[in-house]
Amino acid sequence: MHAVTLHVNGSTHRVVIDPVASLLRVLRDELGLTGTKEGCGTGYCGACTVLVEELPVNSCLYFAVDADHKRVTTIEGLSQDGSLSHVQQAFVDNGGLQCGYCTPGMILTTQALLDDDPDPSSEHIRASLSGNLCRCTGYQSIVKSVHAAAKAKNESEAPKKAVRGRTRVRSRA
Ligand code: FES
Ligand code: FES
Repeated sequence: MHAVTLHVNGSTHRVVIDPVASLLRVLRDELGLTGTKEGCGTGYCGACTVLVEELPVNSCLYFAVDADHKRVTTIEGLSQDGSLSHVQQAFVDNGGLQCGYCTPGMILTTQALLDDDPDPSSEHIRASLSGNLCRCTGYQSIVKSVHAAAKAKNESEAPKKAVRGRTRVRSRA
């Protein structure tokens, strides 16, 4: 057995685990974070996607010991003060989910995409989500949801950028 320290959704957890345990199993079975789903279990479907150091990984293939002392974000970590994140709300508003099984992985991959590219093209969205399979939606509504999430995120950040810009000008004067 092996002791690891995981920083999950802003909380630190020390757990003693089997050295070959997947991050998926530790999140679900040890930490009770069942929002992360298991689909294929072989790295094919993306249902188990979480963020490690802000990058998407298939947690079914990722050894939990490799996440030692790293930041992990699961779907439970996106909402703040009881409100859905921009990405979560956009998926709800635009029909980006049906059964919801693929949705946590889709949303976390989208979160990482928008952190990297605030205004992705449809082609970039489809390429970024190519490792996340959905049996229900046909993907059109997912792409629409990602565009809506990008717009909402950019609009919410625009006032902050304007304030920062004004602050910079003032400090130079
Ligand atoms: S359950 Fe991990 S990729 Fe399918
Ligand atoms: S919403 Fe059912 S698998 Fe995607």
